[in-house]
Amino acid sequence: LQNVPIFQDLSASELETIAPLFVERTYKKGTILFFEADLGDEFYLIQSGVVKIYRIDYSKEIILALFREGDFFGEMSMIQKGLTRSATAETLETSTIYTLMRSEFYQFLERTPKLSLRLLEVTMERLRKANEQIYDLTFLDVRMRIIKVVHRLAVEHGVMKQGQLMINMKLTHQQLANLAGTVRESVTKVLQELQEDQIISIHKKMIYVHNMEALRKLFPTPA
Ligand code: CMP
Repeated sequence: LQNVPIFQDLSASELETIAPLFVERTYKKGTILFFEADLGDEFYLIQSGVVKIYRIDYSKEIILALFREGDFFGEMSMIQKGLTRSATAETLETSTIYTLMRSEFYQFLERTPKLSLRLLEVTMERLRKANEQIYDLTFLDVRMRIIKVVHRLAVEHGVMKQGQLMINMKLTHQQLANLAGTVRESVTKVLQELQEDQIISIHKKMIYVHNMEALRKLFPTPA
């Protein structure tokens, strides 16, 4: 647990208090952990794997966040007593996840101000990203939104693989569309253009970014 960012400031004895209260479970790819509007009473921490946080409206879906090892979620309805889950959570890969019951999470938060501050800090970061998503959906056209999503994924999930920057997250064109607030056909078209311009390449369904600078210049920075 000391490798988990929100727990990094805690003392060994604080970690020893909380660690035994977590329950570990492994879920198959495509498991819904909870639905939007469910009444939940668990806080989640990812040990390994990827979890997609999204909302759906009939057949359309918007992805709000992609979380991986070290990330937590499900805190909103724990802290906002009486409120339901604000979004649906689903595993995109086999994932091992620790859960903590609401009462234990709450008590631990009350007793550990450092943890509350860390949670607040992460929440601010998520609010910034949500603001960015509002900005993009309001002001950017579809092409720019797709390009910005690819850029953001490269920044957040880029790893060096044989001297190339690879986005270490296997996503379908439909999932990229659900991140950018558009349709699959537009993603296919824009990715094709980026490949023709040799800014990216796709190999075994993984996206490699060859020119981050060129990618960056294709969408505007807010003033
Ligand atoms: P909760 O509302 O309990 O269940 C859904 C979870 O998704 C929520 O807690 C947060 O942990 C997470 N979540 C909801 N909206 C966002 C968002 N915009 N950005 C990042 N995470 C979110």
